[in-house]
Amino acid sequence: MNIVMIGAGYVGLTTGACLARLGHLVTCIEADPRRLLPLRAGEIPIYEPGLSDLVHACRQTGNLQFADPDTPALPEADVVMIAVGTPSDDDGDIDLRQVHAAARHIAPRLRSGAVVAIKSTVVAGTARGVAEIIAEVRGKNDIPVVSNPEFLREGSALADFLRADRVVVGADDERAAKVMEDLYAPLTTQGVPYVRTGTVDAELIKYAANACLALRIGFVNELADLCEAAGGDIRAVSHGMGMDNRIGPRFLQAGPGFGGSCFPKDTRAYAATGRRLGVRQTVVESLIAANETRKEALAQRIVDALSGRRRARVAVLGLAFKAGTDDVRDSAALTIIPALQAAGIQVVAHDPKARDQAAPHLPGTELADCPYAAAEGADAIVILTEWEDYRRLDLTRLARRMKGTQVFDYRNLLCPDRAARAGLTCIGIGRPAPGKDAQQATGAAPAQPRTHHGTRWVEVAASPS
Ligand code: UGA
Repeated sequence: MNIVMIGAGYVGLTTGACLARLGHLVTCIEADPRRLLPLRAGEIPIYEPGLSDLVHACRQTGNLQFADPDTPALPEADVVMIAVGTPSDDDGDIDLRQVHAAARHIAPRLRSGAVVAIKSTVVAGTARGVAEIIAEVRGKNDIPVVSNPEFLREGSALADFLRADRVVVGADDERAAKVMEDLYAPLTTQGVPYVRTGTVDAELIKYAANACLALRIGFVNELADLCEAAGGDIRAVSHGMGMDNRIGPRFLQAGPGFGGSCFPKDTRAYAATGRRLGVRQTVVESLIAANETRKEALAQRIVDALSGRRRARVAVLGLAFKAGTDDVRDSAALTIIPALQAAGIQVVAHDPKARDQAAPHLPGTELADCPYAAAEGADAIVILTEWEDYRRLDLTRLARRMKGTQVFDYRNLLCPDRAARAGLTCIGIGRPAPGKDAQQATGAAPAQPRTHHGTRWVEVAASPS
């Protein structure tokens, strides 16, 4: 099929490349020449594992092209996907101007019967609004508009597309639904489940899924505070809890609060939609507040621990909002670092991938080339992103570089015993304070998660996200 993707940002580019990989002919339209020219020259503007190779392979087969908005591919398209930005406005609601502008641009150029699919994350009712705009511009109602939300995670987007848990298509029109079924046939014939709903349902599924996942994280983060207060260990508690099939083990990793381009923005939009429609979503509203407060509270812990030290210096390891990406949008580092600096602490930071993206947001922050250089003369270290490089740090080498001994491990990456052997005090999340384990506090079973396989008890790693 001929596909035109409006927008070659994160979603447009990864989705476009994956559809080309499935055998479709895809043209990604990019209006900004500063992005289009590098793309045409083979440069990929984002870090996503495997994407660069996939784009190059699909360009070689001729299945993927990049074009400006006047491309002749538009009148040839069977499906036009809109994957433009939907930034938040001041109330948390999303700004649909780019979606509407894209609709006005494509409306006079489409052949009758082409299908428009909205990939951007948009609030309930947007597909119907876009259909009205297109019908008004064309003077007739011959272009169905469907909702086709994406469920890609940064860092594993290609696998999330090609081995998706499900494809969701919201179509109020039967012919459009059939076109979308054909589009995804290369996945569904491989066993990927296909969910057909109305447009409003599909729009709500996207927000509901992200809000629900964010709620799990908000819950486990608060539970981590409870573990600390009670002398428990969040890794053991979430492991035991996640073994209930109805709960499951994923997305139960306590950390410094969720970030990224999706959860913070989508939960705000979800709550704003509830307010606009007169059905307050109080659970999600509390989650948003708790997530912000968490980042501030975790910064305050460090400030309190270093109070009394003149010209304290802290090394922050990890600027990306999670491992596997160079994205720093709403990352914990962007709240915690300014809070430390406001308390007079000097900050030096490191990230293996996100340094360039983070630099403009962190004025006054020194950026180091490696974690050991960042640790030089530091009173404390703070780990904010779960990069594998940090899990494998040579702690003795790190300790030798530092002035102090405290490591605030806000991703629970390090083994506290290993840190102690290197002379470091590891302060994790939701774990007993150093020198006091859960057994001492409660007299309960050991905190390290273990599970029973056959006749043996074995140690189990903390559940993956
Ligand atoms: C998220 C969803 O997981 C995707 O399904 C969705 O398609 C995407 O948003 C989107 O709407 O486009 P993403 O933002 O890439 O994907 O990142 P996640 O892996 O979901 O992580 C989000 C945040 O939660 C990160 O800050 C991460 O560190 C945090 N997190 C995640 C935890 O703190 N604990 C966990 O157990 C899992």
